[in-house]
Amino acid sequence: MPALVVIGSQWGDEGKGKIVDFLADEADVVVRFQGGNNAGHSVKIGEELFALHLVPSGILRPGKMAVIGNGVVIDPGVLLEELDNLVKRGVSIENLRISDRANVIMPYHKLLDGAEERLRAGAKVGTTGRGIGPSYSDKVARLGVRMCDLVDEKALREKLEFLVPLKQRILDAYGDTAKLDMESICREYAVYGERLAKHVADTGPMVMETLTVKKKVLFEGAQGSMLDIDHGTYPFVTSSQTVAGNAASGSGVSPLLLDQVIGVVKAYTTRVGAGPFPSELTDDTGRRIAEKGSEFGTTTGRARRCGWLDLVVARYSSSLSGFTGVAMTKIDVLGGLGELKVCTNYELDGAKITTIPADLRVLERCRPEYATLKGWNEIGPERMEKILAEGFSALPRNMRRYIRFFEKQMGLRVVLLGLGRRRNEILDLRRKKW
Ligand code: GDP
Ligand code: IMO
Ligand code: MG
Repeated sequence: MPALVVIGSQWGDEGKGKIVDFLADEADVVVRFQGGNNAGHSVKIGEELFALHLVPSGILRPGKMAVIGNGVVIDPGVLLEELDNLVKRGVSIENLRISDRANVIMPYHKLLDGAEERLRAGAKVGTTGRGIGPSYSDKVARLGVRMCDLVDEKALREKLEFLVPLKQRILDAYGDTAKLDMESICREYAVYGERLAKHVADTGPMVMETLTVKKKVLFEGAQGSMLDIDHGTYPFVTSSQTVAGNAASGSGVSPLLLDQVIGVVKAYTTRVGAGPFPSELTDDTGRRIAEKGSEFGTTTGRARRCGWLDLVVARYSSSLSGFTGVAMTKIDVLGGLGELKVCTNYELDGAKITTIPADLRVLERCRPEYATLKGWNEIGPERMEKILAEGFSALPRNMRRYIRFFEKQMGLRVVLLGLGRRRNEILDLRRKKW
């Protein structure tokens, strides 16, 4: 069972970084396969906090190979800054490989991201402003600059001589006052290319080879299923496919090689940016969860909207990606709430709705129906020590009930349970190691 995919099951920020960091200990290679620096994955090791945006979280485990796959869009300036910071903090980046097929985020992508959001007026997506959407648009329109172009100054110049004037015309038409300077963009990006060249490779065959010799590859998803470009709450989504199927395509390996999929489910729900959110809490309980869970974006620092756990979303996500198990995170945050609600289905005009409708006007009219469960007290440091030493049976009784209720509703086991931010604050409930 050498290939394991970890993806987000909600609207992102489920705690994928921490779960990947935990599982990476057992892996040989960790691959990012989609998204860009819109992602923000926080990993706390001891008292030290690492926030990763483009580099796979596996980089924090010495000796593992970290791969940025072909499905990722790369802002090379941001990547180099992230790498410099890691090196400053003593993390080795020697084992980083970057796909030569990955598309590059250019300065005009960031400008267009901002301009398009401004022009959307009342219908803003609330993007991270990192140029993700325009870069993926160019990839699909066959106007992209790829990593293999970035490391070849002549090819880069040739592309930019055509692309920069084209993008200038679009910015002008949008009423944006920015002026693009082909020469300075070309110089800046050629330097990035030079610095990154030693990491750039044809990574697909490398990952494939690792799997063929039965070594373990961990595929690290970014964002979450509800932000998937096809299956999410379109248009309030990101611009890539976040479901497990893309782990194969986004890293250049056969889908037949993927054999385990862990869906990361936060014990409640959060969302950054605009768009429908049926189980959202706009009251004091929502604010309390946000505060206790430090629900502020790792990338943009924006406050995350909070709500109850939504099983319609979790089941939908599981069916799209074929979860073989769930990593439930941040259950500690729900301590001390008294009563907890879990959305089991929606109701619309007297009918029971159990999946996510494509039409957001329909989704907006769906009313969540809840099961009410008893809460538990906050877990203090002594109790935490006991839990980490003794395992599942030492959890508060009502927390065990919450987990069992979830498992029954999902038809899946919780195989990892997140109880805090630190690396060791996790219960491994797997019957068999990876
Ligand atoms: P990602 O984008 O899915 O990797 O998630 P983020 O890192 O953006 O957000 C999750 C936040 O919750 C981070 O600050 C993590 O350090 C933190 N976190 C992860 N797992 C747990 C957990 O089980 N309990 C608590 N209290 N915090 C957690
Ligand atoms: P991680 O990997 C949460 C959201 C943005 C916005 C929408 C589109 O940390 O879970 P984009 O810049 O991608 O075009 O923005 O998607 N979004 C995320 N929300 N976590 C993320 O990543 C996200 N990446 C994008 O807030 O609503
Ligand atoms: Mg995040």
